[in-house]
Amino acid sequence: MRIAFIGDIVGRPGRKIIKDKLHAFKKEFNIDFVIANGENASHGFGLTVKNCDELLKCGIDILTGGNHSFDKKSDMLALLETKPVLRPDNYPEGVLGSGVRVVMVNDEKLAIVNLMGMYSMPHVENPFNWASKLVEKLHNEGIKNIFIDFHAEATSEKRVLHMMFKNRVSAICGTHTHIGTDDLQIDEGTAYVTDVGLTGCRDNVIGMEKEMPIYRATTGLNGHFKVPNACKSILQFVVLDIIDGKTIEAFKVKSYCSSHEDVITKAFVE
Ligand code: FE2
Repeated sequence: MRIAFIGDIVGRPGRKIIKDKLHAFKKEFNIDFVIANGENASHGFGLTVKNCDELLKCGIDILTGGNHSFDKKSDMLALLETKPVLRPDNYPEGVLGSGVRVVMVNDEKLAIVNLMGMYSMPHVENPFNWASKLVEKLHNEGIKNIFIDFHAEATSEKRVLHMMFKNRVSAICGTHTHIGTDDLQIDEGTAYVTDVGLTGCRDNVIGMEKEMPIYRATTGLNGHFKVPNACKSILQFVVLDIIDGKTIEAFKVKSYCSSHEDVITKAFVE
């Protein structure tokens, strides 16, 4: 199967470039299934029912989340019950929803897993121990194709998950920092990238207007980040070819709103 994963979609500019380009990319690269992180898709904070429907119509099959999953709480509670929307699985017991979904892609099972790191994040259960139990359970159920969106601030946490689960899952793709990293690789059949990077504004600060981040950085005072109405945008995603639980080929696509030439980088295969 060939799946694609889009990192954090940030606000209207992120939704717009997906609407403009995703259908054509799915066709061009023969993509069977699309996963995207949607926790920042509505005004940069959370996901509304309306924006979720809009993204699903653009060709996304399932949306993952993170520390902003519940920012639009009533919408999110409805989405978790009715739509292909995940929140990090390692939220404490009792929180609505799930971070695991098993789907059929080309007559094969694919498990999509969403986990959240601990550093600078809400208080969740230890994602590493959580993943150990979860991956073992999926393997016991005969599910080999396992994709993990690891939503974490610390690059070291992402590397730890990679070291723990290479050869046991098909892919670990990082999200949350909004800045794409240049380390896409395949190691013992597991694709890994520390962060896919945002889909949205690329000429500001992590997809947000620059004024408030500068104010916060220079005064130490807080304020609300805003997604610009207009900006130069980028769509970033990874494409993974998975056979029998192993990723055999992977590449990253960066598509700029202002250029017809996309940047495509192949994964380094260990
Ligand atoms: Fe996040």
